[in-house]
Amino acid sequence: MQTTSPAVSKTDALTSEVMQSFAHATDPRLAQVMGLLAKHLHAFVVESKLTKEEWLRGLTFLTASAAITSEERNEFSLFSDIMGISSMVDVVSQPEGGTPSSVLGPFHNHDSRLRANGSDLTEGQAGDRVWFHGRVVDADGQPIQNAQIDFWQNADNGLYPAQDPDQDPHNLRCKIACEANGSFNLLTIRPHPYTVPTDGPVGALLAASQRNIWRPAHYHVIVSASGYVGLVTELFPEGSAYLTEDTVFGVRPGLVVDFKPCHDAAVAQRFGIATPFLEMSFEFCLAKQG
Ligand code: BEZ
Ligand code: FE
Repeated sequence: MQTTSPAVSKTDALTSEVMQSFAHATDPRLAQVMGLLAKHLHAFVVESKLTKEEWLRGLTFLTASAAITSEERNEFSLFSDIMGISSMVDVVSQPEGGTPSSVLGPFHNHDSRLRANGSDLTEGQAGDRVWFHGRVVDADGQPIQNAQIDFWQNADNGLYPAQDPDQDPHNLRCKIACEANGSFNLLTIRPHPYTVPTDGPVGALLAASQRNIWRPAHYHVIVSASGYVGLVTELFPEGSAYLTEDTVFGVRPGLVVDFKPCHDAAVAQRFGIATPFLEMSFEFCLAKQG
């Protein structure tokens, strides 16, 4: 009697073949990641019954993204952000117990100047004054020595220096070496909500999907210290518009902070500002490496 082998669908057979084609990569992690990527992309094609026209539209989207991408502008990174991929990578790589991480975004500059702790970044520009201070601590709440913060934000007109030729390229950004007790402080302005760039294929996708294009107001901060896992994060003022509909899904519990009126005359005098100004305080917690 003829025996029949268990049926393997044509789609499963193709998926196995493609996964297997990566199995001999010299880096086993490459084999694993590419195999899984093939598996899940195939499952997406099968489940959505993707048509040839839709697949071509996808390729056209990628081609247009490549055409608009430059040193200053990365449409693929924006696509990753608006698809929540950047945020999902943050969530799955979050070390236990540390401050949540959030998206880096396109406006970070490696060449920010090291400024003295307690610097005034406002330099006469418009905007509500915010005294931003805090500490960098470990999982036990102990101060971390030799920590550094790298800070950047948008100006009162909602723009980053890279978007605004009228701003000094170093406006509202700096690095600060924290004190031995982990503390830091600086004077800055209140940040503002703004839209992600919408003049490329991602903008067209957001429009076609009737999706919000705004991000809530935020400060960007990278916190680093030797022996600790570096932290790329953002802080969002409580009450900011778009907190519950950030188009890049960067808002996490624990990153929304109060900007409170402060009447501290000594601080006002040090910065030459009137009271009340706004105060925002935050403790960054870094996880130990390895
Ligand atoms: C930003 O926070 O600056 C940003 C993040 C993701 C995409 C676009 C902008
Ligand atoms: Fe930003």
